[in-house]
Amino acid sequence: MTEIVYLNGEFLPMAEARVPVLDRGFIFGDGIYEVIPVYSHHPFRLAEHLERLQASLDGIRIPNPHGMREWSELIRQLIRTSDVPDQSVYLHVTRGVAKRDHAIPPGVKPSVFMMTNPLVTPSPEAVQNGVGAVTAVDNRWLRCDIKAISLLPNVLLRQMAVDAQCAETIMLRDGCLTEGAASNIFLVRDHVLLTPPKSHLMLPGITYDVVLELATANALACDVRAISEAELRDADEIWMTSSTREVLAITRLDDRPVGKGLPGPVFRKMYRLYQDYKNSVMRAES
Ligand code: PDD
Repeated sequence: MTEIVYLNGEFLPMAEARVPVLDRGFIFGDGIYEVIPVYSHHPFRLAEHLERLQASLDGIRIPNPHGMREWSELIRQLIRTSDVPDQSVYLHVTRGVAKRDHAIPPGVKPSVFMMTNPLVTPSPEAVQNGVGAVTAVDNRWLRCDIKAISLLPNVLLRQMAVDAQCAETIMLRDGCLTEGAASNIFLVRDHVLLTPPKSHLMLPGITYDVVLELATANALACDVRAISEAELRDADEIWMTSSTREVLAITRLDDRPVGKGLPGPVFRKMYRLYQDYKNSVMRAES
C-alpha cells in the first residue's frame, strides 16, 4: 500500500512529498512536533496532544496554522489512509521557508507535515521482563517543555542506550532526575509512586498525565517531587512512559538490577490499568 503523507494542504504519496531546502526546519531545526498514538483508528488523547502542540508553537512564536477542529479533521483523514488499526501519527510544524538568517522572518507561512506509521508498542517479552537503561548528564537546553524538532542531544543520548544494548537513557541534571531521552520516568519506593513535577526541564508527557490520573483514581500513593540520583539508584521499581512505549518497566540500570530485576507489582498493576483504560476509551469512541 502506498504510504500517504500530508504536506502543506495536500495528501500525497510519501515519495512525492518535497520540502524546499531553505525550510527553517531543515536549516535551523526551527519547528515543533507531536507524536499521537492511534488505537483501532481512534487517536488517543487528541485534545491533549493538540493543546501541547499549541503550547510548543507559542513557546517558539509560530502562529498555529490550523484551528483545533481543522487539526482534528486532518489527522482523522490521515489515519483513514491506512488499513492498520494501531498507528503512530507524527506531525510537525516548522517556521517555513525564508532566506537563511537567524532572526525570525516576518510574514512567513509555517510548513506542516504529517505521516502515519504502524504503532510499535513494546513486545510481550519486554513487558514481561522489563528493559535496560543507562544514565547520563542532561546536557539539553532549558526549554525541554517545548517539543522541538531540534533533537540532537536526545539523538546522542538515546544512542548511548543503544550502544549499551539498552532501551533508554535516563537523564540527571544537577543531581536530580529529569526524564528519559524520549520518555518520562517514574519510580516506586516503599510502595509510593514518584515522578518529577512538570517544569521547563522536561516534556509534559501525555502518558505521564494518564499514569498519574490512573494512580490517583485507583488509590495508589503518589508523590510528585524532585528525585535525587541516590533515590533513582535504589528505587524498588523504575518505569518509562511515552505514547509509543506506553508504560514499560526498567529492570536494569547501568548494568545493575532494579529491585529484584523483574517488573514489580506496582508496574504490573499500572500496566493492566493502562491497557484497560485505553480499551475503555476506544470502546466509548467506537
Ligand atoms: N517522545 N519526554 C521526551 C523527551 C519525549 O520525547 C517524549 C515522547 C516523552 C513522553 O511524552 P508522551 O507521553 O506525550 O509521548 C517525554 C515521542 C514519543 C517521540 O519523540 O517519538
